[in-house]
Amino acid sequence: MATTSDEALKRTHSCGQLRASDIGGEVRLCGWVRSYRDHGGIVFVDLRDRDGITQIVFDPTDSAERHELARQLRAEWVISVGGKVRPRGADRVNPKLPTGEVEVIATDLVVLNKADTVPFDPETAKDVAEETRLKYRYIDMRRPEMTRNLVVRSKIAQAMRRVLDARGFLEVETPFMTRFTPGGARNFLVPSRQHPGTFYALPESPQLFKQILMIGGLDKYYQIARCFRDEDLRADRQMDFTQLDVEMAFVTEQNIMEMTNEVMREVCTAAGKSFPDQPLIMPYKQATDEYGIDRPDLRFEMKLRDVSEIAKASTFKVMTDTLAKGGVVKGLAAPGGAKFTRKEIDAYIAYAGDFGAKGLAWTKLENGQFAGGSAKFFDAAGQAALRERLGANDGDILFMVADEVDAANKALAALRCKLGADLKLYSPDAMAFCWVTEFPLLEFSQQEQTWVSKHHPFTSPRPEDLDKLETDPGAVLARAYDIVLNGVELGGGSIRIHSPEVQARIFKRLGISDEEAKEKFSFLLDALRFGAPPHGGIALGLDRIVMMMVGAESLREVIAFPKTARGICPLTEAPGTVSARQLRELHIAITAKPEKS
Ligand code: AMO
Repeated sequence: MATTSDEALKRTHSCGQLRASDIGGEVRLCGWVRSYRDHGGIVFVDLRDRDGITQIVFDPTDSAERHELARQLRAEWVISVGGKVRPRGADRVNPKLPTGEVEVIATDLVVLNKADTVPFDPETAKDVAEETRLKYRYIDMRRPEMTRNLVVRSKIAQAMRRVLDARGFLEVETPFMTRFTPGGARNFLVPSRQHPGTFYALPESPQLFKQILMIGGLDKYYQIARCFRDEDLRADRQMDFTQLDVEMAFVTEQNIMEMTNEVMREVCTAAGKSFPDQPLIMPYKQATDEYGIDRPDLRFEMKLRDVSEIAKASTFKVMTDTLAKGGVVKGLAAPGGAKFTRKEIDAYIAYAGDFGAKGLAWTKLENGQFAGGSAKFFDAAGQAALRERLGANDGDILFMVADEVDAANKALAALRCKLGADLKLYSPDAMAFCWVTEFPLLEFSQQEQTWVSKHHPFTSPRPEDLDKLETDPGAVLARAYDIVLNGVELGGGSIRIHSPEVQARIFKRLGISDEEAKEKFSFLLDALRFGAPPHGGIALGLDRIVMMMVGAESLREVIAFPKTARGICPLTEAPGTVSARQLRELHIAITAKPEKS
């Protein structure tokens, strides 16, 4: 009797489930034809679904008609198969597949849907141009690695919810259509039809809403929140991305960090990784001094050292001139780097140049002697001092940058990471978490010629530094913290300002006038006057966490429908043009000619 279409959908197992213990059982599987082989009359089909692959066998001696239908199957057709589980022949056991000991001898086949010839084979999609993969994302998603990434992502999100729910957090949604507030990233704007000439902004984060939830007495909030930032995209940046956003009332930095550790521990467990009992806590100053950056990659040592004193006594004019102008000379010793060829060294010089270094001095330590490059500028005492200061061993190469301290740090931090990877200074699955704390509250923007917030303007200064706000703004430290994994910032947050007076003082320091503050942030300033509890929070980048947990190179590998680096969605072809009528309704006139997509 023919199987009805409803019966064909009654799966008993997924394609990744069957084991030797199921042998003899009657089963029904649904999925996609991954591959098809005709072995002397017997047809073998690998049937795939989200969960795995099962081998199906069609034997002509069972049913010539079904066998004939099986011979017509093609890659990515959607089928339902009824049959009996049996052991694979000894020579056909596939130890690589969890289902590799068994196969299903088909007693029923229903073609649920055919498929055109697919533009690429999902199994080998990794080699296909990314734009093509994103255009046909539904095929790319059938790639086991991509499926796995989305499965891990879901598990991680659930782990986050589990921990926070158990700790009494409330999940609250905040609006997408909100008011533009300056600061931080550039916002996406949405024109209002009802109020001509006005715009909503898509939130770069729910920052002010979560603070207002605390003022509203909600005590513990979280949200897996979408955020929107109109910034240039990179491998670890998307224009719309997701945060685990958290805020708590009546807390200190330690409370937030402990809660985050607990969330991250559960996240790591869900992803099959481990989280340290006590992640290292490093002050910002130490991170920038020793690693040149506020998100140090602690999978390997190779610390940066200040060698200014030693360089001062050298005959290296570039260094002595830089020092005379108030700059620094910093360097590192790369273990095993003495083997680099001149061409390789030139490539490192160019690399450091990409990160702003005007030059990169080098010398090798071989057979107890410095050789080549800048060695000649240092006398014996200078060479011995360099060796000691940089902890250099035989077989190392020394690299040094002379510049203003921030510029030297920037170039050396990038160079350090590249050298760490090139010289294989850590195992590929190493995970080094740390917290960075004691950030400066403000930094001076050369571009805007004013002090700007390092985190955001709602971050609390340390009370003991408040007096320096007007006299020595650069020395004021923030009650802020970032969590870092392998040199990637996973999340950051702070204890907030809950006093309207302090908030007004910060706005003033940032050059935001009273009128401007009133116009832009009056809702926050008002709320702070009506019983704001001390509060603080954090936001963890969900996409970045998943990317790190699955070892992906880019966020695009862990987001179902990401944008390309050019900000385009190849699947939907967004952004797109709209009709003149839609524009009229929104009171918008286009001044630029739309780009052809
Ligand atoms: P922040 O701006 O540091 O803080 O963001 C927190 C975390 O969000 C992730 N992230 C991104 N991920 C992908 N693409 C992007 N474009 C992107 N930008 C940020 C990072 C980052 O660490 N409201 C504050 C948090 C707070 O103070 O509570 C905030 O948004 O992993």
